[in-house]
Amino acid sequence: MAKIKRIWAREILDSRGIPTVEVACQLDSGHFGVSSVPSGTSTGTHEALELRDKDESRYHGLGVLKAVENINKVFAPAVIGMDPTLQEVIDNKLISIDGTENKRKYGANAILAVSEVVSKVGAISQGLTLYSWINNLAQRKQIKAQMKVPTPIFVMIEGGLHGAGNLDFQEFHLIPASSKKYSDALRSGAEIFLVIGKNLQRRGATHSFGQEGGYTPNLFTNADAFEVIVDSIKQTPYDLGRDVFLGLDAAASFFFKNGGYTIKDKSAPMDDNALLEFYKSLNDQYHLEIIEDAFAQDEWKSWKIFYNLLGEQLLIVGDDLLTANLTRVQKAIDEKTCNAILVKPNQVGTVTETLDVIKKAKDANWKIIASHRGGETNDWFIADFAVGVGADYVKFGAPARGERVAKYNRLSSIEIELQ
Ligand code: PGA
Ligand code: ZN
Repeated sequence: MAKIKRIWAREILDSRGIPTVEVACQLDSGHFGVSSVPSGTSTGTHEALELRDKDESRYHGLGVLKAVENINKVFAPAVIGMDPTLQEVIDNKLISIDGTENKRKYGANAILAVSEVVSKVGAISQGLTLYSWINNLAQRKQIKAQMKVPTPIFVMIEGGLHGAGNLDFQEFHLIPASSKKYSDALRSGAEIFLVIGKNLQRRGATHSFGQEGGYTPNLFTNADAFEVIVDSIKQTPYDLGRDVFLGLDAAASFFFKNGGYTIKDKSAPMDDNALLEFYKSLNDQYHLEIIEDAFAQDEWKSWKIFYNLLGEQLLIVGDDLLTANLTRVQKAIDEKTCNAILVKPNQVGTVTETLDVIKKAKDANWKIIASHRGGETNDWFIADFAVGVGADYVKFGAPARGERVAKYNRLSSIEIELQ
């Protein structure tokens, strides 16, 4: 078996122009891999810690030189000489070297970069694709993981922390029917995306682009964003409710303050009951397939009531609520607050721990959505990971912009390989 010969890291820029960590790994067999980690913008408070330098003289304090140094000086010497196919052994070593619960000592960004690059070279050293190797790792954990290309959730319109426009909700989704072939699903998303852009321009709803490639218009209400998408779908050969569906990531922690939820659709802040009624009316009108982060990240009671009311009808997705954290996922299963999870490996910090979370969620019959982050690189690790764990959905942003389409296009090639 090949052994890790060299690991070295550096600071690169992500899609927002903010530093992130890239790491390269070479095996004694000559095989080589590179990995870079994404970074959240609407980060949940319970996520593993992303280490930033806080040196205001560089990148407004957002540099990652400490994380880079932690890889070069601490993690590299610890894993050199190890067999890269021992993913769990290596991940556990990284976790124990850090020794803190949220990886604050050396940084989850440093740890995940190493964990991911190890999985890449682990695959290459065995002559496997990354998705097959991830599937192998998933099977070893008894995860029910049937390899398939997941259904894409496209982010068409953005607001909240992601957009320069005036919307409160963070993401308005278009979701092709799960029965569609991936290539057809991708095509429908891309075709509808361009029509939405033209319609926003015609309405004078000046638009620019959000962090995830979606449009960020100024509209009168959040519900108007759905209207624009619905109108646009009508101008294409696709039918809403048959070919494509709608979804929402409210990212409600962003507009939650002093116990109230403030959005431009209502003149006064709403309590959780009023917000729940608002979602119900949106769902009556648009038959949503998913609602993510409908309530703030620690408002378990509201989540429970919401799940009781709509859990049978749509996917109630926990992102900031769960932060892919095992304890929080267990609580959500016990208290019945969700039936789907957004999985972002950098919320946890290693490939192995991300697989553990997926196992728990799948055993509870939840749907799995593998997700990008607001700040991305062109690394397509998450696309292979999604296929390998048999995720139901992927959320990689709009069907536009290099760092987003890198992942959607990767799925196109996997689709062909799996035929
Ligand atoms: P983030 O948001 O990556 O900027 O945190 C993505 C999401 O909330 O799904
Ligand atoms: Zn989210």
